[in-house]
Amino acid sequence: MAETIGLDWPSSKSQFCLMRKVQFDTTLTLDRAASRPLHEQLEAELREAVRAGRLRAGTALPSSRALAQELGVARGVVSEAYAQLCAEGYLVARPRSGTVVRGAATPPAAAAPAAAAAADRIKVNFHPGLPDLAGFPRARWQQAQRRALAEISDADLGYGDPRGIAALRDALATRLGRARGTVADPERIVVTTGFTQGLALTCRILRDRGARRIAVEDPGFFISKAIVEHAGLETVAVPVDGAGMQVEDLPDLDVDAALVTPAHQSPLGVVLSPARRSALLAWARERGTVVIEDDYDAEYRYDRDPVGTVQGLDPEHVIYIGSASKILSPGMRLGWMLAPAGIVDALGFAKLTTDGGTAVLEQMTFARFVADGELDRHLRRMRLRYRTRRDAMLAALDAWFPDAEVAGVAAGLHVTAWLPEGSDEAGILAGGLARGIVAQGLSWGACDPATARPGLMLGYAGVPEPAIAWGVEQLARAREELTAAS
Ligand SMILES: Cc1ncc(COP(=O)(O)O)c(C=O)c1O
Repeated sequence: MAETIGLDWPSSKSQFCLMRKVQFDTTLTLDRAASRPLHEQLEAELREAVRAGRLRAGTALPSSRALAQELGVARGVVSEAYAQLCAEGYLVARPRSGTVVRGAATPPAAAAPAAAAAADRIKVNFHPGLPDLAGFPRARWQQAQRRALAEISDADLGYGDPRGIAALRDALATRLGRARGTVADPERIVVTTGFTQGLALTCRILRDRGARRIAVEDPGFFISKAIVEHAGLETVAVPVDGAGMQVEDLPDLDVDAALVTPAHQSPLGVVLSPARRSALLAWARERGTVVIEDDYDAEYRYDRDPVGTVQGLDPEHVIYIGSASKILSPGMRLGWMLAPAGIVDALGFAKLTTDGGTAVLEQMTFARFVADGELDRHLRRMRLRYRTRRDAMLAALDAWFPDAEVAGVAAGLHVTAWLPEGSDEAGILAGGLARGIVAQGLSWGACDPATARPGLMLGYAGVPEPAIAWGVEQLARAREELTAAS
C-alpha cells in the first residue's frame, strides 16, 4: 500500500532532497498461524500505523476488495477491520472516496491529504526547474497516444530491448542530430526515466570500471552531486566562471570523469566556451576517460545563438544525457542517453538490471510526438511564452531588488539574482514561503557552504507575468521584514 507523506514545501536544500523521497510502502504483517483472528491482527496493524503517523490524516486506504486481494485474505477480514477502526474513530468511510484516515484536529469531512493541503498554500512557484506545466500539450499528446497504441507492435509490448524501443531510438537519433548537433546512432541510444537515472547508471558503470573521483561544477546542481556521491564516488569541486567549468584544473585533480552542463550551466546559466570544450575533450582523451554531458536547458535561448553539444565534437569520449523534463514535463520521467561504443552494452545491462526498461507505451507516444514534429512545434510556442516571462522577471527584479546582480538571463527557465554580501538568503526564502512563494537559494549549489554567496534562483517559466511581479514583491517584503527585525 503506498502512502504519500505530506511535507511542507522546502525552504532549504535538505528539505528539498527529502521531498524527492516522499513515497514509501506501509507494510502490514499478518500471522496466519496465530490464534488471534486475522481481522483483529489487521485492526492492530492499521491502528498502530495511524498512531505512529505512518498513515497520515487524509490518506485514502485501498478498497476492502483490493486490500483483501493484496493480503490474500477474505474480503470480510478487511471490511470487519475497517468497520471496527471507523467505530473507534481512526478511520472514516466516505461515500465516494472510500475509507480514509481521520485527522485528529480537522473534522473528517474537511480533511484533505496533507501534501495537497501544502500545495494549496503555494501561491507562486519559482522552482527553477519547472517548465510551464499548464502549457503541456495535452490534446497533441493524446493524439500521439492514440496513434502509439494503434501502431505499437505486439513484440514491443513484451520484454523488449532494455535500451528502449527502436521507434523512439530512431526518432531521437534524427532529432538530436538535427537540433543538438550530436552524432547519434540509434544503436548507441538508451532511453531512461530522466537525467537522474542516466547519471545514476553512468556512475554505476564508471565505479564498476574502477573510477573513484568525479569532477563536478562548483556551483552546480546539488542533486547531481548527491547522485554521484550516492553511487559511492567522491565529488571533486571545480570552479565555474563566465566561460563555464575551469577545465584547465582537471589534469591536476586526479579525477576519473567530469560532469558538465555545457549548454546552460546550472545554476549560473553560462555556456562552456569553445576553448574550454576543446581542452575538456583533450583531457578526456589523454586520461582515457569520458565527459558526462548534462544537456540541461539547451532548447531554450532568447538572446543567444544556438549552442551545440560537446558530444558532437567527440562521441567516443562523451556520455550525453538528455531529458524531457524541461521540454515537456518532469512528471513524464523520460530521458535518453548517447554512449560511446565501449560503454553502450554496459549501459543497456545497467538499465536492464535497474528496471528492465522504460514503459513502452510512453516511449511509443513520445516517438510519435517527436517524429510528427509536435515537439518542435511545442518548443517554438513555449520559447515565445518564456521570453515574455523572462522579461517580466527582469522588470520585477529591477523594481524590487535593485541591488541584486542579475545573471544567466539569455537562456533557460530561470535567472540568478546574487544578493549583497551578508544577505540572509535562508531568511528571505523562509519569509517568502510564509507568504506562499517557493524559490531556491543560490547557495544550495555551492560545494562548500562556508564560501557560498547568497542569492536567489528564480524560475519564471511556469508563472504568468502578473504573478511574477507579485511574487518577487513578496520576496522583497520578506527581506524588508528581516531588515526591520534586525
Ligand atoms: C542541472 C539539471 N540537469 C538535469 C535535470 C533534469 O533531471 P530529470 O531529467 O531527472 O528530471 C535538472 C532538473 O532540475 C537539472 O536541474
